[in-house]
Amino acid sequence: MKILVVGSGGREHAIAWRLAQDEERHEIYCAPGNAGTAAVATNVAIGAEDVAGMVAWAKDERPDLVVVGPEAPLVAGLADALQAEGIVVFGPTAAGARMEGSKRFAKEVMDAAGVPTGKAETFTDAAKAKAALPAFGLPVVIKADGLAAGKGVVVAETAAQAEAAIDDMLVGNRFGKAGAEVLIEEFLHGEECSILALVDGENAVLLPSSQDHKRVFDGDTGPNTGGMGAYSPAPVVTADKLPAIKEKIIMPVVRELKNRGITYRGVLYAGLMVNDENANPHGPLAKSGSTVNVVEFNARFGDPETEAVLPRLGGSFAQALLHAATGCLRDSDVTVLPETAATVICASGGYPGAYEKGKQISGLDGNPALVFHCGTKESGGQVVTSGGRVLSVTGRGATLREAVDRAYEGVDRISFDGMFCRRDIAHRAFER
Ligand code: AMP
Ligand code: GLY
Repeated sequence: MKILVVGSGGREHAIAWRLAQDEERHEIYCAPGNAGTAAVATNVAIGAEDVAGMVAWAKDERPDLVVVGPEAPLVAGLADALQAEGIVVFGPTAAGARMEGSKRFAKEVMDAAGVPTGKAETFTDAAKAKAALPAFGLPVVIKADGLAAGKGVVVAETAAQAEAAIDDMLVGNRFGKAGAEVLIEEFLHGEECSILALVDGENAVLLPSSQDHKRVFDGDTGPNTGGMGAYSPAPVVTADKLPAIKEKIIMPVVRELKNRGITYRGVLYAGLMVNDENANPHGPLAKSGSTVNVVEFNARFGDPETEAVLPRLGGSFAQALLHAATGCLRDSDVTVLPETAATVICASGGYPGAYEKGKQISGLDGNPALVFHCGTKESGGQVVTSGGRVLSVTGRGATLREAVDRAYEGVDRISFDGMFCRRDIAHRAFER
């Protein structure tokens, strides 16, 4: 198959790498890609958000499949534009991508579909929003409606923090149009988990569970990041809980979207909050004594979850994605290998704040782990840093401990000026 992967991060490197592991040989392109994707694909110099450029390339090259990694081009209508040219795309249309692009829309769909999620209200007026705050208690969550590069969510511990977040978004226009509407949402207690489902418009196949580490420092402290590591499976959602999550969360959303005229094809990523202590007897996981609520939906593979989940998939990945993209996905399209996987992000000093770029990276050659490039580029024959998250280093093993140890073995051979990583990836699994 001739396949174009759109994007330039660790997720896209993992997608291209996994496609290259298929038994059939594919002709893989990555736009724009990075220094890592260059080893498994041909990089094409088109920005991920350059919809016109991407469509022009696809019209000339006629790929059998385009796999879109990031959310921004999906929200901007890349899938629609490619489909209009008869190109098969894995990734939802702009209407479907609103599940990620508008938190208000996602809530509407969840409410209509009867999917469990935190209570929320939407506001455009700061005074009205503040007046509604007391009803939500503390802590409380303030969210910008639109895409805000992972920075649009504030978990406020005090009323003053909540009011400041509301002012920041509605009065200060911190996120521009994306923050012109805010949601006030009930705080959900529990442990988070990511479920990535391949969806073909009517059916879904759930990939194994994973857990991301959003805070920058060990012990889940410091500011939120795009994710500092991940592992799969996450014991908080074992494989036996997946059928209930599929039937009570993923499928009702797919059907509700279909009712609204949206044939959703791509990944539907459910960020879940699982609470084992105060089980809701009517919830999807009631039998296992847990309550589960949806925290968010994304319209794409998670990053860095993808770097931990895809190495665990057997069979033909290209075929699974093609079947999802063409409406003929089957359960047998996805096989899960018994081994576990963990991925550790090597980041640039200062991230998620300001950081320097262009630092030479050593220890990539002959590295015993699977090293996916997140923010790298080639410069004068050297691989140098070009982002905050630089590398995603994945270890695999029969046990999670083995996988984590192998990931850190890989990390410990890598160095660049200012590099840091979390040292406690998968700690929640080990603490159980
Ligand atoms: P989101 O962008 O909606 O995933 O939110 C980012 C992060 O904020 C989530 O991964 C959670 O850690 C936290 N968060 C969001 N909504 C809630 C909520 N209702 N209760 C508790 N934590 C939340
Ligand atoms: N790792 C979180 C995300 O991809 O949104």
